[in-house]
Amino acid sequence: MAASPLDIEITGLSFRYPDGTLALDGIDLAVPRAGRIALIGPNGAGKSTLMLHLNGLLHGDGTVKILGQELTDSTLPGIRRQVGLVFQSPDDQLFMPTVFDEVAYAAVNAGYDEETVRTRVAEALATVAMSEYADKHPINLSIGQKKRIAIASVLVTENRILVLDEPSAGLDPAGRRALISLLDSFSATLVIATHDLELVHRLCPEAVVLKAGSIIRTGPTAEILADTDFLTSAGL
Ligand SMILES: Nc1ncnc2c1ncn2[C@@H]1O[C@H](COP(=O)(O)OP(=O)(O)OP(=O)(O)O)[C@@H](O)[C@H]1O
Ligand SMILES: [Mg+2]
Repeated sequence: MAASPLDIEITGLSFRYPDGTLALDGIDLAVPRAGRIALIGPNGAGKSTLMLHLNGLLHGDGTVKILGQELTDSTLPGIRRQVGLVFQSPDDQLFMPTVFDEVAYAAVNAGYDEETVRTRVAEALATVAMSEYADKHPINLSIGQKKRIAIASVLVTENRILVLDEPSAGLDPAGRRALISLLDSFSATLVIATHDLELVHRLCPEAVVLKAGSIIRTGPTAEILADTDFLTSAGL
């Protein structure tokens, strides 16, 4: 069978939370290699729920294929090594006792030797301007600093796909500008859920609009963002 040219291929994905909330309702989505897709939509649309399916943290009905492989128990570990996920809330992501350990986690898991881990962590922390916080406990950081560490923790390995849930939320203007330039310099496939329409405009040529668990529109970002009647009707 020929390898899929798509990095992400989602078919008929539906997901219900244990309390009965139908958060995703028949999602079909294809993201080509090195594609940059923005996921936009009002609060509660299902953006975060969809992102948590991209590295198997949630499992719905339907299929999720990543880098040509269907996500299953046996493909999950390999897929997780290629998909870097930044959670919407850094408190859901940060769990190690120091910033260094937190950022090092993925690099250690990827099997890098100690020297390489140190170098890569130092580079990742420098990239998010957090070098001097390496020994601090992640819990004792400001919200924006936590977000920076969450971002550093996916920069430390070479992910083929970056899934970023509100990456600019909580960042100061300089941090936000630096983040946009940084992401723009990457060749990885990007999926970005955000309410930051300026970031969408700068980074993502294609947008996907979610509402109440369904995709209500996909297309060129410039067209969607220019359609103010549509944006208003979509709750944006
Ligand atoms: N753990 C949960 N248990 C039950 N329902 C949930 C849970 N998490 C989210 N939901 C519900 O699922 C739906 C989708 O939520 P989700 O967090 O994916 O939205 P979102 O588009 O990311 O919103 P936001 O813009 O606020 O981040 C909402 O109706 C929400 O109330
Ligand atoms: Mg969300």
